[in-house]
Order: sequence, then structure tokens, then C-alpha cells
Amino acid sequence: MVCLGNICRSPLAQGILEKKAADYNLDVLVDSAGTSSYHSGERPDQRSAENALTHGVDLSHQTSRQFVPADFDAFDHIYAMDSSNYNDIIAQARTAEDKEKVFMILNVSNPGSNMSVPDPYFGGDLGFENVYQLLDEACEKIAQDILHARQQS
Ligand code: 4NP
Repeated sequence: MVCLGNICRSPLAQGILEKKAADYNLDVLVDSAGTSSYHSGERPDQRSAENALTHGVDLSHQTSRQFVPADFDAFDHIYAMDSSNYNDIIAQARTAEDKEKVFMILNVSNPGSNMSVPDPYFGGDLGFENVYQLLDEACEKIAQDILHARQQS
């Protein structure tokens, strides 16, 4: 899960998918990063963490880090929160296989829309709840897709 600062959107996406993976008994590695290093080493934004807790999602174990090309080796799917994150990740791809791992996360729930998760950093609490709802819908679909893929294999 990748956004700009790795303190608002992608930590929430990580926490939501981790919770769904636990609920569905799915053994998956979920992580998040920022395309920038602006907040490296910091805990998630308090507004994101508080919103997450109202939904039973815990972000307290997370620390911001910057996306690195080695993430293409470590992960099968890389979900960008917005088009600028997407372009920044694609620019670091080393191969066509790397590029094929990168998706706009809201295309999972709204195929072909190329919608971005709005950056809530400079807004109010409503922005964080909106981000939560968008990411919950996308992460539910991601979890269901993994579940169905594993049931077939
Ligand atoms: P995020 O939000 O990318 O969802 O973590 C932001 C966090 C910090 C900044 C911008 C967006 N910033 O400009 O510092």
C-alpha cells in the first residue's frame, strides 16, 4: 500500500487489509510505504489512527518508511493511492514484470475508473472517514479475490 507520506492513507489501507486477512484466516504479508521520505520514522497521523480505531483497526505498530525498488521483489501486488503515487512507483520499476505489479487501489473496487483516494492531510475528520470507506470497499475486494484464488489452488 503506497501513498505520499505513509502516515494517512496507506497506513489505513495496511491496517484494514491486515484485519480482513486475520478475519478470513488468510496468510498474507501486508505492508505500506510512502513515495516520499517526508515522514520516515513517524507513527501514522493521529487523525488516521483515531479513525481506524473507531472501526476496530489498529495502526499502532506501524512506522512510516519510503518505498524502495526492492519492494518490487518482496510483494506480488503494489497498490497506489493516487495517480501521482502510481507514476512515482512506475518510474522506479526496473522491468515490465515490476510494472505489472502496480495498481491504482480504487480500480479494484471501481474497475477502469482510475480514481484516486483523496489526500486527507490538509482536510478535516470527514476526509478521513471518506478515505476509510473507500479503502474498506477496495480491501474487502482484495481479500475476497485472494480467498477465491486460494480456494481454487
Ligand atoms: P498520505 O498524506 O500521503 O496519505 O500519508 C500526506 C501526508 C503528508 C503530506 C502529504 C500527504 N505532506 O505533505 O507532508
